[in-house]
Amino acid sequence: MDKKASLTLPDGKTLEFPVMSGTIGPEVVDIRTLYGKSGYFTYDPGFLSTASCNSTITYIDGDAGVLLYRGYPIEQLAQQCDFLEVCYLLLNGDLPDAAEKAEFVNTVIRHTMVHEQISRFFTGFRRDAHPMATMVGVVGALSAFYHDALDINSAEHRKISAFRLIAKLPTITSMAYKYSVGQPFMYPRNGLSYTANFMRMMFAVPAEDYKPNDVLVRALDRIFILHADHEQNASTSTVRLAGSSGANPYACISAGIACLWGPAHGGANEACLQMLEEIGDVSKVGEFIRKAKDKNSGVRLMGFGHRVYKNHDPRAKLMRETCHEVLDELGLANDRLFKLAIALEKIALEDDYFVSRKLYPNVDFYSGIVQRALGIPVSMFTCIFALARTVGWIAQWQEMISDREYKIGRPRQLYRGAARREVVPIGQR
Ligand code: CMC
Repeated sequence: MDKKASLTLPDGKTLEFPVMSGTIGPEVVDIRTLYGKSGYFTYDPGFLSTASCNSTITYIDGDAGVLLYRGYPIEQLAQQCDFLEVCYLLLNGDLPDAAEKAEFVNTVIRHTMVHEQISRFFTGFRRDAHPMATMVGVVGALSAFYHDALDINSAEHRKISAFRLIAKLPTITSMAYKYSVGQPFMYPRNGLSYTANFMRMMFAVPAEDYKPNDVLVRALDRIFILHADHEQNASTSTVRLAGSSGANPYACISAGIACLWGPAHGGANEACLQMLEEIGDVSKVGEFIRKAKDKNSGVRLMGFGHRVYKNHDPRAKLMRETCHEVLDELGLANDRLFKLAIALEKIALEDDYFVSRKLYPNVDFYSGIVQRALGIPVSMFTCIFALARTVGWIAQWQEMISDREYKIGRPRQLYRGAARREVVPIGQR
């Protein structure tokens, strides 16, 4: 028998609503007809109890520390696949076989170059602009360069835009970096893997080539995999909401990048690295932990705690492993900040304040250390996140447009402003 939930209103009237089940995860009460039947809205700022859509892409069980992309555990994907296989999976629903992967990779690398005019577009920005500000502008501007495939009702056009975005984001991200340091842009090299090509565009200069190191390429590839999608977070919801009006995909992804830039979302690894720099030395860890536990200090242990993961962040364990590999490869096992991070983590994990509040290291606790070791400047950390998350955004946008039940996003509100009143002429106010 179909499950129903009933709601009794203040006037005693009882309404019934269908209960919907997902494959896994909490059931949801379908309240779409509530307003029509009763005149009541629901109130849920921050969407703490609201499923804004149905999706088949990513599943998170925060209590159990589970993250699945299309049903596959993140640990298995990070250990056995590369980023482009994960892109294929997120976009198409299944992992590719060898022939499908070869075709996919071939299509992506055919789109890595950007229109030459985009180089000149960059020069309109100040060189000291934050690279994320530049990314928001340049990605949004892509619709002015690639308007031959902007019909969102065409599956073929949507597919072309998806390829363009995934292929061009590394080129644009590295251009944002090169522009900020005053170096010439490097063209893509399609003989390299997706991630090696990105590292070369970041670190090569015309005067001297850059030979990608396999261990470091693998580490950055893993960062991309771990950040590729994360369910209906703020930036993904932004992309869906922007796209629900029929806006073009470049505008939607640019909106996602703008949202990600906020310190409560994509900026945490930058903050974590700054915190480690401020602590400075293992001998200061105790004093810092005391401050982080004191509500009046305004200090938080950055890289600890998560809104959804209340047991452990599965991405953090993988990032910790990668951190060891990278520092060993670079002979930095005694790196001051890494040793500091280990000491901080050990003390916090044994401290009742953090244990009782279920505060564990999140992915950002280690990803800043890894990126710094790779030579990526702190100001580029969120750009790397945006590059990786683009595939998740575009997969979620595609899913929304193809959903028969898709409607423009239009939340309602609880109005608490002035009741109707009359305008008094200015001299009489
Ligand atoms: N250091 C010290 N105390 C903390 C911390 C922390 N990092 N995080 C939470 N608390 C305390 C908080 O003061 C509160 O204590 P009490 O119950 O006594 O009032 C309790 O733990 C619950 O905190 P909350 O703010 O209600 O928890 P939340 O789920 O709203 O916040 C969070 C989650 C990630 C915003 C928060 O844990 C935080 O600020 N962490 C540091 C920033 C950080 O690392 N963010 C990266 C998140 S991972 C990136 C991603 O997935 O996109």
